[in-house]
Amino acid sequence: MIGIYLSGTGNTKHCVEKLLNLLDDTARCIPLETPYIINMLENENTIVLGYPTQFSNAPFMVLDFIKRNPELWKGKKVFCVNTMGLFSGDGTGCTARLLKKYGAEILGGLQIKMPNSVCDSKLLKKGIEENRQIVKNADKRIEQTAEQIKRGIYPKEGLSFIAHIKGLFGQRLWFYRKTIYYTDKLKISDSCIGCGLCSKECPMKNIKMKENRAVPGKRCTMCYRCISLCPQKAITLLGEKVQEQCRFEKYE
Ligand SMILES: Cc1cc2nc3c(=O)[nH]c(=O)nc-3n(C[C@H](O)[C@H](O)[C@H](O)COP(=O)(O)O)c2cc1C
Ligand code: SF4
Ligand code: SF4
Repeated sequence: MIGIYLSGTGNTKHCVEKLLNLLDDTARCIPLETPYIINMLENENTIVLGYPTQFSNAPFMVLDFIKRNPELWKGKKVFCVNTMGLFSGDGTGCTARLLKKYGAEILGGLQIKMPNSVCDSKLLKKGIEENRQIVKNADKRIEQTAEQIKRGIYPKEGLSFIAHIKGLFGQRLWFYRKTIYYTDKLKISDSCIGCGLCSKECPMKNIKMKENRAVPGKRCTMCYRCISLCPQKAITLLGEKVQEQCRFEKYE
């Protein structure tokens, strides 16, 4: 068994690592951007795939990864883990359907509420205590799920036809254009001091350093990692101003 994940602010990383640790403490857990990840996956039968919900869909980087490796999934058993701020609809179903098309067997799906990673919108901001409670509840759910799985019962969250309709009409249709490709909408303000952190940490290698300034490219997967890390709060995407930066470690 192996865990793979995309995680912008650390929520999904935590959930996948915790679940795997409870199921098999020898199993490895690696980010999707790991070099040679395909070689590592080729020899594994069971994969736990984790990612954050984006507009009731999977981040484009995850969909792209699945599509670019169509042969990889044949015969694999995949359990999809999806984290969300509030509502995911069929967040797990979006990858499960694709994986099935490429020959994978879907073991189940788990959708877990976590703190919202969008930190440049006042609307989505929650207090630190509320976020800590959300993480505690999530941990409990992961522990219960691990117990179920050990008894051979896999949850099927987000995989039903009803969930599909909820995800489609609840969000995906209205935000369709945001979910079909990488975005070029990342903005970096003049307050950038050229520390290079965003460029080093971006899973898409989408930020280049030029003359001591960070310059965004056109292949952002909207993970919010750079936005939550920048010491100058110089980076924005969906909103205009960074409120409180989100990192999972704050809520442990
Ligand atoms: C661009 C973007 C879109 C999002 N859309 C949704 C959404 O539709 N529904 C939801 O519940 N959460 C949404 N979220 C919140 C994240 O799914 C959630 O905070 C997730 O746990 C972040 O995980 P990470 O830290 O592993 O990246 C969105 C976050 C981002 C950055
Ligand atoms: S993390 Fe912020 S300050 Fe550092 S290079 Fe990136 S944008 Fe500039
Ligand atoms: S540019 Fe920032 S938000 Fe976009 S993929 Fe890279 S780290 Fe994530």
